Amino acid sequence: MEFGELYEDNRLNWNDRAKVHVSSSMYRLDEYVNDPELISRTITYDRNFMGPVEGLSVAHLQCHVGTDTISLDRLGASSVVGLDFSDEAIVAAGRFAAAAGSSARFVEASVYDAPEAIGEKVDFVYTSIGAINWLHDIDAWGRAVAGLLEPGGRFYIRDTHPFAWIFEEIDGAIVPHFDYFNSGGALSWDEAETYSDNPDEIEITNTRHHEWNHSLPAVVNALVAAGLRIDRMDEHQGAPWELLPSAVKEGDLWYFPEPLRSQVPVLFSLNATKV
Ligand SMILES: C[S@@+](CC[C@H](N)C(=O)[O-])C[C@H]1O[C@@H](n2cnc3c(N)ncnc32)[C@H](O)[C@@H]1O
Repeated sequence: MEFGELYEDNRLNWNDRAKVHVSSSMYRLDEYVNDPELISRTITYDRNFMGPVEGLSVAHLQCHVGTDTISLDRLGASSVVGLDFSDEAIVAAGRFAAAAGSSARFVEASVYDAPEAIGEKVDFVYTSIGAINWLHDIDAWGRAVAGLLEPGGRFYIRDTHPFAWIFEEIDGAIVPHFDYFNSGGALSWDEAETYSDNPDEIEITNTRHHEWNHSLPAVVNALVAAGLRIDRMDEHQGAPWELLPSAVKEGDLWYFPEPLRSQVPVLFSLNATKV
């Protein structure tokens, strides 16, 4: 398949998922509307790693329906713009932000076109949780991040650790299954499901989607080649989604059962600065 077809499959699949997510209890949009101080669980976690955003202009890449975007706004950013390629997500995010009293703005575009689509440089670029696995070209992503930042501006990402990707649960056992060194090939799926609950039973009709596992060196090298300095990296044992059927939930996070929990990181985070 040509890359354009893979991109369009993903965009249509995300449009369907956005329709489900806005009414899901997982995304709980009404709670942000009712509580003007509510910060998403993702941003609550990331506050301990990403550094302050008060007074900064912020761009949130792959913002989906905007829960983390308006949370960045609520932390006191001077301006926040969210970008996503799903028109359903961007329309939903704009409606949601207005209802929640946020001045965040939303732009529909591919990540790769973010600097032109957003049209201004910012002090801080944020992206997280299920973001870069949708991108086929990690070097172009690195250039887009760098293109958005003022010199001295900071970047933060928390996303799936590429090593955690190789595991699958087969007959109740979590075993290495997928290649770590997949030489850039897409993993393709055909599933009429998303990861949230679906209270309105909205059908997912655009079922094909494609993902890419980027190694940590690929991520670091993409950012360095684009002119960022890596300041810090961390690895995390808990993820905000049910990793595999026998994952163990503690608080808001799911963990691999021991001994895997102590052996394998499930997320990484990285802080960088545009030099
Ligand atoms: C799992 S969501 C990440 C969102 C965030 N963690 C959340 O839960 O709100 C992935 C997002 O990436 C977006 N996306 C995927 N590929 C993209 C691309 N090439 N350009 C822009 N957005 C993209 C999808 O539309 C979706 O909203």
